[in-house]
Amino acid sequence: MTANPVARVYTDLADARRVGRYPPGPTSFSLPRTHRLSHDPLPPLLRWYAEYGPIFTVRVLHAPQVFMLGPAANHYVTVSHAEGFGWRDGAFKDLVPLLGDALLTTDGAYHDRARRIMMPAFHRERIEAMVDTMTEEAEGALARWREGTVVDVYGWSRRLAMRIAMRTLLGLDPDETGKGAEAAEQFERALSFYGRDFALWLLRGPGSPWHKMHTARRRLDEIVLAEIRRRRAGGAGSGHDVLSMLVDAEDEDGSRLSDREIRDQLTTLLFAGHDTSTSTITFLTYELARNPEVIAGLREEAKRVLGGRAPSTVELAGGLPQLEMAVDETLRLYPPAWIGPRRALRDFEFQGHEVRAGSYVAYCSWASHRLPDVWEEPDAFIPERFSRERKAHLPKGAYVPFGGGSRICIGKRLGQSMVKVVAALLLQRVQLRLSPGYAMDIRQMPTLSPRAGLPMMVESKATD
Ligand code: HEM
Repeated sequence: MTANPVARVYTDLADARRVGRYPPGPTSFSLPRTHRLSHDPLPPLLRWYAEYGPIFTVRVLHAPQVFMLGPAANHYVTVSHAEGFGWRDGAFKDLVPLLGDALLTTDGAYHDRARRIMMPAFHRERIEAMVDTMTEEAEGALARWREGTVVDVYGWSRRLAMRIAMRTLLGLDPDETGKGAEAAEQFERALSFYGRDFALWLLRGPGSPWHKMHTARRRLDEIVLAEIRRRRAGGAGSGHDVLSMLVDAEDEDGSRLSDREIRDQLTTLLFAGHDTSTSTITFLTYELARNPEVIAGLREEAKRVLGGRAPSTVELAGGLPQLEMAVDETLRLYPPAWIGPRRALRDFEFQGHEVRAGSYVAYCSWASHRLPDVWEEPDAFIPERFSRERKAHLPKGAYVPFGGGSRICIGKRLGQSMVKVVAALLLQRVQLRLSPGYAMDIRQMPTLSPRAGLPMMVESKATD
């Protein structure tokens, strides 16, 4: 696999020539269209859906990209025909230099073995142990807020999510300089590469974003690999973190993950879990500030069920239905992992259109969650649409914030728990107000997030 962008463009062009025929759509070369798609893709995707239907092709920079939108398309790609699509050679391949060979970037037997070995780390009992850490960290972070000050809820959630990830995934103390704090900093530094414009990805040499990403990744690797070796040598770890679990885990045949495999999987978990949870907390806080009747209902529920404390794992699994609906609705409007990039491994036909092996194909939860023929008032924040009865009537594949099928998000329960713990405490500890004149502008790389953060005024605190 090449990391050289020029070679990548050349291979893509050769592949597109080989594929030859694509479903209809705007396939001429266009820089303005490429720019729009990489800065504000939702409006054009919805327009093309109205014009071409649930499958169409768009040329993004040099490469034709087949989009498949809507319930049937999502179900087709993630569940009923998932084996006809590869992750490795889809757009996630850009992540290989940072993530290595792990769940998001591999296919077939290699992926399935790793997923089998890793699954127990995400079982309910394991998450129970992590909920205490989430609560402790969220309480600490909220205690630092002062009435009358403005906080950037996005930056705050990001730091909080990173501290929780350092402890629950790597078992590192986020306050310990040289370890937890540095690992977090290096990871953020490496990740920032993917938030930059594609043109900057092309630069190489000292000082370039690519070079900085590799320098940060190397330092992060040193920390993580040293920690793996320490655990293997029987050094003290928290025992409850995912790293410890992966060091001890065995497949049915007794085989274990190598140091390199554990490193790749852990970096992937940091990548997949950190931004996504951060964004969900941020967008939920934003929508609640804009919907006073919803937040009033959530406060009443939190007071009645929790009476000021954090939720237990039992309460997190169904004991706070209003909060759950609000989180579901947030993930409908702003699914952080908004696009599911794939490569067609074989020819297929979808709704009368032929797609040939080798085509770049993507399903898109963000656009699918805003289709006017599927969702009433698609842009409005209406948590009741996720009441138990109404949820049961959603078409198959309509709602896919965690993907679907056998490769559905492995951290779904962990991410949901974290969002709900933080939200339940936030609701009970503080009143926030949007800064006057604030306008949400969404950035979508590498995940959905507010481009300029989310500044909010701390109006009052329940405890100080
Ligand atoms: C609100 C939080 C989260 C959201 C919305 C989310 C969303 C998603 C989505 C949409 C996918 C599938 C992508 C595709 O089909 O191409 C996915 C996969 C994945 N997620 Fe999450 N995620 C969240 C939290 C987490 C957490 C906390 C972790 C781990 C710590 C995690 C780890 C993963 C991994 C490893 C995969 C790949 C699974 C595989 O292919 O086998 N996610 N996530």
